[in-house]
Amino acid sequence: MSKTLIRGAKVLGDRALDVLIDGETVAAVGTGLDADGARVVEADGQILLPGLVDLHTHLREPGREDSETVLTGTRAAASGGYTAVHAMANTFPVADTAGVVEQVWRLGRESGHCDVQPVGAVTVGLEGKQLAELGAMHESAASVRVFSDDGKCVDDAVIMRRALEYVKAFDGVIAQHAQEPRLTEGAQMNEGTVSAELGLGGWPAVAEESIIARDVLLAAHVGSRLHVCHLSTAGSVEIVRWAKSKGWNVTAEVTPHHLLLTDELVRSYDPVYKVNPPLRTEADVRALREALADGTIDCVATDHAPHPHEDKDCEWGAAAMGMVGLETALSVVQHTMVETGLLDWAGVADRMSFRPAAIGRLAGQGRPVSAGEPANLTLVDPAYRGTVDSAGFASRSRNTPYQGRELPGRVTHTFLRGRATVMDGKLV
Ligand code: DOR
Ligand code: ZN
Repeated sequence: MSKTLIRGAKVLGDRALDVLIDGETVAAVGTGLDADGARVVEADGQILLPGLVDLHTHLREPGREDSETVLTGTRAAASGGYTAVHAMANTFPVADTAGVVEQVWRLGRESGHCDVQPVGAVTVGLEGKQLAELGAMHESAASVRVFSDDGKCVDDAVIMRRALEYVKAFDGVIAQHAQEPRLTEGAQMNEGTVSAELGLGGWPAVAEESIIARDVLLAAHVGSRLHVCHLSTAGSVEIVRWAKSKGWNVTAEVTPHHLLLTDELVRSYDPVYKVNPPLRTEADVRALREALADGTIDCVATDHAPHPHEDKDCEWGAAAMGMVGLETALSVVQHTMVETGLLDWAGVADRMSFRPAAIGRLAGQGRPVSAGEPANLTLVDPAYRGTVDSAGFASRSRNTPYQGRELPGRVTHTFLRGRATVMDGKLV
């Protein structure tokens, strides 16, 4: 069936409207629209958002298909309300050539659940020594614009400067994982009172902040675009706020877990809480929420980092870093930002769809819900209350920090160019 009528969803502010999808496009938005042969989705009390866009997803293919594949990861994305994800480059082999980014791009097209935009590595093998073939990746079928060594920091200032200069030519952006390597040698968790009590190696806030301070200055010097991955400290927020006040081209993201969880959880020694950057303090969480609310932080990005249980169910020191996030992101944002009054649903649309799509320069994604636009849409039931159970995840991995926790909201439908990828809460 090519027509779908979504009836009575809140689209903008509190107004309940009907939205007619015809083929791949939103055909009409209004009241009392005629169903006329269309499949009808009754959406009373539900919120219709533009399809969510993730700037930071680890899909693990090629090389670590035991933790995720493009297929399972895009199914997880669709379940979470996403219609586009950026696939991070720290795969095996690393996505540092046109060949690898084209492979990931092709796998994304075949998956059919969600658009996949490959991210290219900044340096060969993520080794921080030699620039990767940024131009060839941009010219490839994958049209890469976002480059990142995520998982590792581009710590050499000259390499960082060259990368910023290089991508300026085609309006690309360097997404930096800000972590000064010497200051974080042996680090296991946030440096603070909890790490001191537990006797675990600390990861000081300054290791993140010093790199961000350097990079906003480099971006300003070069006149190029910098995006800062997963901001985690109050000090990082201050630096980004300052850079923006100067008019520099700097954007930033925060993960759902850094909006909710703190380093107090590490007292459990449960490696599900081990993540890079580490969970920080209550004061950091507060600053991150406020910065997302006031727009200093542009968007929410999941840093969905699937790991197989043998890499997580082990002692803290040996465990891999990262958490899955695609299937819980919207619920965590509802809990931390909407139900606290910090963001309304229009704000959620902005921070989880419009802005990330704009940063990635994605065509056809992050568009307003209006006639003539591609029908990339997410319908969410905000009244739903449920307990997270990873057994039901579409992701191949189960490393969620929210297992057994009650979180609000549920994605009932996701539409990718008019085609339902999720219907009544179930993957199609
Ligand atoms: O916790 C993390 N996991 N942080 C990163 O930067 C990389 C990611 C991964 O690839 O597992
Ligand atoms: Zn990272």
